Amino acid sequence: MTDVVLDSWIRDQWVANLCDDVNAEVKGAVILIVDDDEGPRETLSSLLNNTNEVHVAADGAKALEVLEAHSVDVMITDIRMPRMSGIELLRTAKERYPCMEVIILTGCGQLETAAKAVEWGAFAYLQKPFHTCTLQTYIARALASRRQNLERRNLERLALEANRFETLGRVISGMIHDLGTPLQVVSSHIELMMTNPELAPVHDRLETMYTQIRHCTDIVRSTMSFLRHKEETLVLLNLNEVVEACLDVAAPILRKQDVEVVRRFDTALPFMRGDFVLVRQSVLNLITNACQAMEGQSDPQRLTFTTWGEDKHVCLGVEDTGPGVPLKDRNNVFRSFFSTKDAGGTGLGLSVVKNVADKHEGSVDYGPRNDDTGAHFVLRFPRHEMEDN
Ligand SMILES: Nc1ncnc2c1ncn2[C@@H]1O[C@H](COP(=O)(O)OP(=O)(O)OP(=O)(O)O)[C@@H](O)[C@H]1O
Ligand SMILES: [Mg+2]
Repeated sequence: MTDVVLDSWIRDQWVANLCDDVNAEVKGAVILIVDDDEGPRETLSSLLNNTNEVHVAADGAKALEVLEAHSVDVMITDIRMPRMSGIELLRTAKERYPCMEVIILTGCGQLETAAKAVEWGAFAYLQKPFHTCTLQTYIARALASRRQNLERRNLERLALEANRFETLGRVISGMIHDLGTPLQVVSSHIELMMTNPELAPVHDRLETMYTQIRHCTDIVRSTMSFLRHKEETLVLLNLNEVVEACLDVAAPILRKQDVEVVRRFDTALPFMRGDFVLVRQSVLNLITNACQAMEGQSDPQRLTFTTWGEDKHVCLGVEDTGPGVPLKDRNNVFRSFFSTKDAGGTGLGLSVVKNVADKHEGSVDYGPRNDDTGAHFVLRFPRHEMEDN
């Protein structure tokens, strides 16, 4: 069958069968068609592109470029192509994108190669000429398989992360526990030095050191009770006051970087119930990230805190004037170990913020901003309903 006949045959069959098999209808998929022959390539494309995002490539190299730029669900490729055969393309593509499914189109005399391709990871092969309904059914099945692949990968990733977290949790709880004693010793020495009149000239510095050490001891205590799932550290909190406490702790770095702080506080903000140290640590992590993002920039470095009440929540927005989080990273930043700071970041700061928010039955989101003029994070905690006496 010549290509022209094949094309019109495919088209007729497709149109005839499109509505018959509703279950196999293919919609919303990203499909790549690879064929060095323009006729079949364009025909398949025009058949599929009403309801899908379809890309085409005339050879293997171009196909790999398309795969790099788009998250393709199913690739349909011919076998016989110059330079890189469909089989070579299949092997390279499956190595790089193991969750993508590949359907191989075969002509006469290529059946054996095609069957081999399935062993190398092709989802299916289809011998030309094929019924359009069959192709549609294969694509639908390939899409279902792709969904399963992605779900499995996601579960594997979560399991791996949970495992790393468990190990990390064990290491950290041991470390945190052991930190308690030396911190206690250092703070008692500082307390003693503060009573020594000879050290009066450095009293201010000793006081700063004492405050910072107390801050560390608080973190140790709160983290230990968090790890033991104790509840008794929950108290009534006013988010405006939490922000003020954070600004006290972060004062040296804010001063050093000359960061302007703007407070847009709701003065009638309802209370929330929470662990002061953990909530403060979350806000501090947001401040630290904001300062790191703005560090060294010549544009004004500004940090804006906005608080407001909602029907069921009290909320805090933290905005900076740094470069913001690129759209592609916004779903990832709360995942543990995600960091763009090379060796400089562990990627735990925002996952701690999320864990603390979850523990308080609250949430943390990247703010409503869609432009790239700074980062905007919003924390929400359940508001505490005062009981009427
Ligand atoms: N204010 C911000 N502006 C721009 N990007 C940010 C901001 N806050 C977070 N990010 C991005 O989110 C990533 C994750 O942040 P997170 O605080 O979890 O980890 P980190 O800062 O890289 O390392 P760590 O906090 O553990 O030292 C950062 O690496 C950065 O890419
Ligand atoms: Mg951080």
